[in-house]
Amino acid sequence: MLIKTHRDGFIHPFSSEITPQSAYQSRRDLMKLMATGAAGAALAGWAGREALAETVKPGKLAALPGAKSAVAGAVVMEKATDYKDASTYNNYYEFGTDKSEPAKNAHTLKTTPWTVTVDGLVGKPTTFGIEELLKLSAQEERIYRLRCVEGWSMVIPWVGYSMSKVLEKVQPLGNAKYVEFFTLNDPKTMPGVGSRVLDWPYIEALRLDEAMHPLAMLAFGMYGEVLPNQNGAPVRMVLPWKYGFKSGKSIVRMRLTDKEPKTAWNKAAANEYGFYSNVNPEVDHPRWSQATERRIGEDGLFAKKRKTLMFNGYEAQVGQLYAGLDLKKNY
Ligand code: MTE
Repeated sequence: MLIKTHRDGFIHPFSSEITPQSAYQSRRDLMKLMATGAAGAALAGWAGREALAETVKPGKLAALPGAKSAVAGAVVMEKATDYKDASTYNNYYEFGTDKSEPAKNAHTLKTTPWTVTVDGLVGKPTTFGIEELLKLSAQEERIYRLRCVEGWSMVIPWVGYSMSKVLEKVQPLGNAKYVEFFTLNDPKTMPGVGSRVLDWPYIEALRLDEAMHPLAMLAFGMYGEVLPNQNGAPVRMVLPWKYGFKSGKSIVRMRLTDKEPKTAWNKAAANEYGFYSNVNPEVDHPRWSQATERRIGEDGLFAKKRKTLMFNGYEAQVGQLYAGLDLKKNY
C-alpha cells in the first residue's frame, strides 16, 4: 500500500502496514499464487530470515558492559526480547524497508572513523570523536520497553548514558528550545537512500527539556556489546516513552535551535506522525488503533496482545513534561 504525500511522489508506510493485506487474500488468490510459484517464493523469503536469525547471536561483537542504571524507571523488570529478534527485525529504511533487510545490508555501514557535531545555539560548539563520546560519561545498562508505532514492542537492554551529559558539555544558550538530530546520509554505503521513501537524511527532533530528561538516552550498545550496525551503530537515540521512530540511528549531528524542526516522518505524512509522538493508547493512528501491542517473541497462536500503557509505562517519570498540553492535538 502506498500513500500520497505533498512531495509529488509516493511513499511506503511502515512495512508492517503492508502485511495485514495478506490476511484478506482469498483462498482462491492464494491457490493462484501457489500455482505461479509466488507463494513458494514468499515462504522461501521467510525461511531465509529464520536462517539468518540462526547466525545472529550475541558474543560476536566487542563487549560494552555498563553498570545497572540508577535513573528512576530505567530498568523494567520484564523479560528481554531475544537478541536474534532485536537484531534481525529492524526498521532502518536506509538499508531497506523490509524488517529483515537492515540485518542483511547494514554490513556496509562504516562506523569508524565517526564524529558527532553538536552545534547551533550553544556556547561551545563541539565535534566529538566517537571514542571521546564513549568516555564522556559512565556507560549504564538500561532495560527499556520500545513501542513501535506499527503496533509491536520489544524489551531491550541498552548500554549508554543520558544525552543530557553531551548537551551540558556544549552549554545550551538561553534561547535554545529544540534539538534537531541528523542521522547519517551516505548513498555510497546505504542502498535505501537512493529511494524516495523518505526525504533524507532521517531527521528527528525533541524539545530541549525532553532531550535533557534523564531517561532520554544515547546508546552505544545493547545486550552488553557494541550496537550491531542494523540497530544504529555506533550511536543512536533511545526515547522509551515515544514511538520507536523518534529514536534516530547512527547520529552524526545534534543542532540546538529556537524553532521546531521538521522531522522525516512528519514531512512524509504530517497527519499521521506528529512532532511529539508520545506513546498514547488513547490517540489512534488515523489508520489503526494504538490501544494494544504485540510483544515480539510472544507470537504463539494464543498469545494475547498487551494493553499499551500511557507514555509506554513511563508516565510517572515524564508526564510532567506535558502538563497542560492537549495530547490529542499535540500527537
Ligand atoms: N533511524 C534511522 N536513521 N532510520 C530509520 O529508518 N527507523 C526508526 C528508528 N530509527 C529508523 C531509525 C523506527 S521506525 C524504529 S521502530 C526504530 O528505529 C527501530 O529500532 P530497532 O531496529 O533497533 O528496533
